[in-house]
Amino acid sequence: MDIEYVRSRFIKHFDGSTGSVYTSPGRINLIGEHTDYNGGYVFPGAIDKGVTAELKPNGTDKVRAYSIDMKDYVEFGLQEEDAPRTSWARYIFGVCREMIKRGVEVKGFNTAFAGDVPLGAGMSSSAALESTYAYAFNDMFGNNSLDKFTLAQVGQATEHNYCGVKCGIMDQFASVFGKADHLMRLDCRSLDYQYYPFRPEGYKLVLLDSAVKHELASSAYNKRRQSCESAVAAIRQFHPEVSFLRDATMDMLEEAKHAITEEDYLRARYVIEEIQRVLDVCDALQRDDYETVGEKMYATHEGMSKLYEVSCEELDFLNQCAREHGVTGSRVMGGGFGGCTINLVKADFYDRFVQEARNSFAKQFGHYPKVYDVVISNGARRLD
Ligand code: GLA
Repeated sequence: MDIEYVRSRFIKHFDGSTGSVYTSPGRINLIGEHTDYNGGYVFPGAIDKGVTAELKPNGTDKVRAYSIDMKDYVEFGLQEEDAPRTSWARYIFGVCREMIKRGVEVKGFNTAFAGDVPLGAGMSSSAALESTYAYAFNDMFGNNSLDKFTLAQVGQATEHNYCGVKCGIMDQFASVFGKADHLMRLDCRSLDYQYYPFRPEGYKLVLLDSAVKHELASSAYNKRRQSCESAVAAIRQFHPEVSFLRDATMDMLEEAKHAITEEDYLRARYVIEEIQRVLDVCDALQRDDYETVGEKMYATHEGMSKLYEVSCEELDFLNQCAREHGVTGSRVMGGGFGGCTINLVKADFYDRFVQEARNSFAKQFGHYPKVYDVVISNGARRLD
C-alpha cells in the first residue's frame, strides 16, 4: 500500500499536517490450520499486502479515525464505555484498550488508513489492521517498551474481547514477525519460533480466492474451539498432564472417545494429525522435497473438509481442480468457511492451471475466482 496515497488522504481529511506512517501485512499459511489455539505448530509467512496507517497525536482524549477504503469517519474516546459500533473502528478501539491495559499511555490522535488485503479471503486483514496500530502505539506512546510477542497478543486480545472471535496467535504473530523470503514455524505452546528460507526453486505459490464469505464464520470458528476443549477435558480424565490437543496422541483420543460426541472426536482427530503434518512438512522442506509438502497439503484439505468441516463446495471444487491438473499441493487456507485455496504449483504448469481453474470455476459458480501470487514479505514497521 502506497505511503503517498495514505498521506494525501490524511492531509486532506485532517488539518493539513502530517504524522507518522506504519504498515503491517496479511499472511499466508503453508500448513498448520486450527492448530494454534490447540498449542500446536503453524507455518505462516507475511505477504506483500497489508494495512498502512498515518497517525498524529491531536492533543485531546478523542480518536478521530478515517477509513480511506470505506470513506467512513468515526470518533471515539479511550475509556472502556466509549466502544464504537462501527466494526472497523472496534479493531482500532480494541487495540487502544489492550495497549492501555498493558501500561501504554495511548492519547487522542487523528488517523487515516487503507488496506489491500482482500477482506474475508482468509489472509488476515484484521490482524494486519491490529498489528499496524499496536506497532504504532508502541512507537508513538510507549517508547517501544512492549516486545513483539506482546504486540501480537494485543491484536489477539482485541479479537477476543472486542470482536467476538476466539482466535489463536498465528495471524498476529505472522503480521508482526514476518520476514521477506522466509516462512516461520511457531510452536504455539512455548512460543519458540524459527525462520525457514522459502524460495521454492521451480515452484510458485498462488492463492485462488473463491470470494465466498460465510456470515456465521466467527461463531462456527468459536464452536470448533469448544469442540477441541471438550476433547481435552475428556482426555484429561485419564491423562491430567494434557492441557492442549498438542499434548495428546491418537491413542489417548481413542481412549476418551466414548466420553465425547462423534463430532468432537472428528475435530480432535483432525487437529492431532495436522500438528504432525507441520513437522513433516518442515522436514520435507529441509530436503527440498516438494512432493511430500504437496501431499501433506492435500491431506490437510481432506481433514479440513471431512473432519473439521470448515471447507465449502467452492473450495472443494478448487481443490479438486488442482488435483486434476497435477498441481503439487492445494488446500483451503486460514480459518475456512470461504476464502482461498493455497496452491503449490510447478512453475511450468502455472499459467495453464490458473487459466483452467478460473474458467471451470466460473462455469460452475457464475463468477471468476480471484488470483493472488504470493510474495513473502516483511512484518510490521514504520514507513516514513
Ligand atoms: C484464523 C485465526 C487463526 C487460526 C486460523 C486457522 O485465521 O485467526 O488464529 O486459528 O484461523 O488456522
